[in-house]
Amino acid sequence: MAGRILKDDIETLRRQADAVAVVGDYTTLKRAGTRYKGLCPFHNEKTPSFTVAPDGNFFHCFGCDESGDLYDFLMRIEGLEFPEAVEALARRTGFTLRYEEMSTRDRQAVGQRSRLVQVTAAALEFFTRTLYADAGEVARAYLKERGFGREDAQRFDLGFAPNEWERLAQALTRQGFRAEDLIETGLVVRNERGGLRDRFRGRLIFPVHDPGGDVIGFGGRILPGLDYGDFDPPKYLNSPETPLYKKTRVLYGVPQARADIVRTQQVLICEGYTDVMALHQAGFGNAVATCGTAVGVEHLRMVSRYAQKVVFAFDGDEAGVKAAERAWEAARTLGGDGGGADLDLRVLVLEDGRDPADLVRDMGVEGMRDAVAGATPVVPFVLRRRLAGADLGSEAGRTAALHEAIEIVGREPDLDLRREWARTEVAAGIGVAYEFVVRSAKRLGVELDAHEGVAPMGQARQGRGGSVGGVASLDRARVRRERDVLRTALQVPQWLPDEWFELAEDDFTHPVARQVFAAVQTAGGAGVELAAVLDAAPDDSLRGKIREIALEDEVVPIDADVAAWRVRSLLADRLQAEERTLKQRLQTLHHTSDREELMAVLGELRELEARRRALTSVSED
Ligand code: UTP
Ligand code: MN
Repeated sequence: MAGRILKDDIETLRRQADAVAVVGDYTTLKRAGTRYKGLCPFHNEKTPSFTVAPDGNFFHCFGCDESGDLYDFLMRIEGLEFPEAVEALARRTGFTLRYEEMSTRDRQAVGQRSRLVQVTAAALEFFTRTLYADAGEVARAYLKERGFGREDAQRFDLGFAPNEWERLAQALTRQGFRAEDLIETGLVVRNERGGLRDRFRGRLIFPVHDPGGDVIGFGGRILPGLDYGDFDPPKYLNSPETPLYKKTRVLYGVPQARADIVRTQQVLICEGYTDVMALHQAGFGNAVATCGTAVGVEHLRMVSRYAQKVVFAFDGDEAGVKAAERAWEAARTLGGDGGGADLDLRVLVLEDGRDPADLVRDMGVEGMRDAVAGATPVVPFVLRRRLAGADLGSEAGRTAALHEAIEIVGREPDLDLRREWARTEVAAGIGVAYEFVVRSAKRLGVELDAHEGVAPMGQARQGRGGSVGGVASLDRARVRRERDVLRTALQVPQWLPDEWFELAEDDFTHPVARQVFAAVQTAGGAGVELAAVLDAAPDDSLRGKIREIALEDEVVPIDADVAAWRVRSLLADRLQAEERTLKQRLQTLHHTSDREELMAVLGELRELEARRRALTSVSED
């Protein structure tokens, strides 16, 4: 790692890398015409809808809509930041990246991080060696008693810190590490006499990694049977805040859990190191934990890179329940386009005083699986909690509870669910009619009525008159045709007839179709490289749409004639609209007696009609 990567290299690599080889490491791809198809590595599916276009070096999944170039692919599947993805792709494909000169400050920051990571790696080496040495017997016995074998310990790189004052400090100093660096990792503190003292003593050690696999900190648990002198140590001790370890941003177990999180599209967040280990041991490899801190915005942002469905498996006590509510608040803060708005949060309600490890032990793997599947969505979870504590005996209490409940329901972004919660939780929970809830909600500005948004392109709803902002009344067949025209432009531009060049943005009625068309035009017209069209798109969501259209198959295979007819029909529709306008003009002209103008308009109208007939005749015979 060294400063900024040169932009040119990023672009060259983006185009040159072998998409089929890179993606092929994660899913088996089979050739299908000019593309490759396979099972999507981002969601569970039985028939392949994940498509890779080797010419444009991008992918799109028709199942889950995941879409992007190779950098997007690696960021998503490996949980990397952009520069890390560029470096990972370069490493895999043997491409040598060039870097810009770094400022002294950058160089220091980079230098510090790699220095500290060397310290933590050496410390972990010391801890694991100690666990398997004679001194580690007490810790190994404890693990065994808790049902963890050597394999479990190794999966999580567990270690043991001997119950002495300065063994680690001495070992690392002997290896040549500077005292200042040891102190900066939080592993060592300076005592009153200026000497070095270990932070973790007589503890089972859980190393905490960042998503890239570097050790950034540690957690340590006391062991029964060890003598801690005359003071009462906390059960767990965690690394303090350091340049490497920011507790609001770390999740325990991410490198071990990531593949399962991505595969199952679900993450289990629990409270403790041992919960994570017990869950992994039982086959729930998608479990992670916060390290002695509440789930916050940063944690959710992190997991939202891998999966949208989050199940909280917190201890079944007041603190655990509060933590779930706080996590929900955090998700709201995350909101917006940060990815958090789509998070599907659920809470696994545990019996008082139980934790997930107990649950697995008592109910077995199947029981745990059912419990995870049956986890309560966070909104009804919070609603039930609030209503349980409300005073429903008095009129005033019921009104207060209703208002609070409506406010909570209003935070559910999915309108169907919102209505369901209003019915099953609010109305039923408080004991009022659903209609009353709807009316109160309306007064409070919370929407519960049916609401029609823009239908997805190509799936405009049929037979529905209602219109919101004038787009809901889109004609289904028409939208389909617009999409087909755009697909021809992106996939087989040689089939486009000359009339294509007459089309304008206004000839497309669907807002997405208009944007796609505009991007094609901005890029230089049909037939340009897809990369150029993607560059011309203003945002990721449109880029996703463009890739989707560029890769999708015709529902019915077509030929150049049909493709041409579709383009002409769009143009014909425009001419027909112009004819209507002219006819209205004629009506008014009849009342004046401007013959000259009348003749001109009539002539124009005839021309339009002739042109339109010519355009549509292909399909009529
Ligand atoms: P728990 O007390 O529930 O721990 O704390 P646990 O994982 O069930 O531990 P066992 O089963 O007794 O070994 C949950 C998490 O809270 C943090 C730790 O991260 C722990 O894993 N914690 C707990 C602390 O940071 N300090 C403490 O003193 C206790
Ligand atoms: Mn616990």
